[in-house]
Amino acid sequence: MLVDRQPGLSVRLKLTLSYAGFLMLAGAVLLVAGYFSLSRGFHPGVVFTVRSHADLLHSFAPIAATVLGFLLAFGLLGGWLLAGHMLAPLSRINDATRMAARGSLAHRIEMDGPNDEFRELADSFDTMLERLEAHVAEQQRFAANASHELRTPLAITRTLLDVARMDPDRDTAALVDRLQVVNTRAINLTEALLLLSRAEQRLFAHEQVDLSLAAEDATETLLPLAERHGVALETTGDMALTSGSPALLLQLTTNLVHNAIVHNLAEHGTVWVTTAAEPRAAVLIVENTGARLSPHLVATLAEPFQRGTERVHADQAGVGLGLAIVKRIAEAHDGTLDLAGRPDGGLRVTVRLPAA
Ligand SMILES: Nc1ncnc2c1ncn2[C@@H]1O[C@H](COP(=O)(O)OP(=O)(O)OP(=O)(O)O)[C@@H](O)[C@H]1O
Ligand SMILES: [Mg+2]
Repeated sequence: MLVDRQPGLSVRLKLTLSYAGFLMLAGAVLLVAGYFSLSRGFHPGVVFTVRSHADLLHSFAPIAATVLGFLLAFGLLGGWLLAGHMLAPLSRINDATRMAARGSLAHRIEMDGPNDEFRELADSFDTMLERLEAHVAEQQRFAANASHELRTPLAITRTLLDVARMDPDRDTAALVDRLQVVNTRAINLTEALLLLSRAEQRLFAHEQVDLSLAAEDATETLLPLAERHGVALETTGDMALTSGSPALLLQLTTNLVHNAIVHNLAEHGTVWVTTAAEPRAAVLIVENTGARLSPHLVATLAEPFQRGTERVHADQAGVGLGLAIVKRIAEAHDGTLDLAGRPDGGLRVTVRLPAA
């Protein structure tokens, strides 16, 4: 947005004028001082006569005028050149700002030279551009993935309907069942996307939340799922108070425990949910047994639509947004999410939120 401003003097002109002004002032002071010391030396020890004063002034004035004139010219020219030199980096920064405003975020100022205020400004500007560019790229990737994921259930629905229409002895009950599964999946996906954007916009009131209660809540809800997967759930830990949205923090905990159950060993898996209160942080750790994960894979899991390697198990194929939601919720609460593969296989997820 461009603001209409009154036209004004350029900074270069202002600097030039003040430089010349100061030079003139200093020159004038020197000249006055010179004049008085001269006038004393003219008739040592004698009270001035009107005549001698006039004489002195008469011979001194032209010299003073020449000196002042020279100082003015020198001040203006020198000031103009000096100000131009000092302000040159600013025009580079300005150019970069304009380019960024037009949407080309790839440009960097890359200011060299000594480490001064301009250099600092340029470096901060470069850092900002870098972040902005990464953020925009991520948003674009996200939008592309989200559209793709949303189209999939719709395309499956269409195929199911097309096939059913051509088939005279179709099994309507089976068709309805399959449509319902696909439909539920689409609803889950849309809800996950909504949740993601809500967490991102930080549209929630802050209340005191005890993570150990959220952990208890989540494990209780997911106990039947754990039993079905043959996974043992162990919840321990102290009260860990933080401030935020109870619903979102419960969602965060539920997503982590859900993951720990479904991405576990095929049998005899275990999940450990621990909470702890550190001096400055409330900590939630969810750890589970499972397949060994390479650090490289672990580093990408929290990205939206990343589903690890197990897409084959259709029954537990999720949307791939669970950890992305956890990460956004943690960040919206000024917290952090840490993922680490366990040496014996499985994952250890640590969420650290500011203590209330
Ligand atoms: N506790 C865990 N142990 C092992 N692997 C995990 C764990 N949590 C997540 N993963 C891996 O990270 C991937 C991404 O997890 P995420 O929760 O984002 O998506 P998802 O569980 O596949 O789908 P959903 O959106 O339904 O949660 C999973 O597909 C899985 O491969
Ligand atoms: Mg998940």
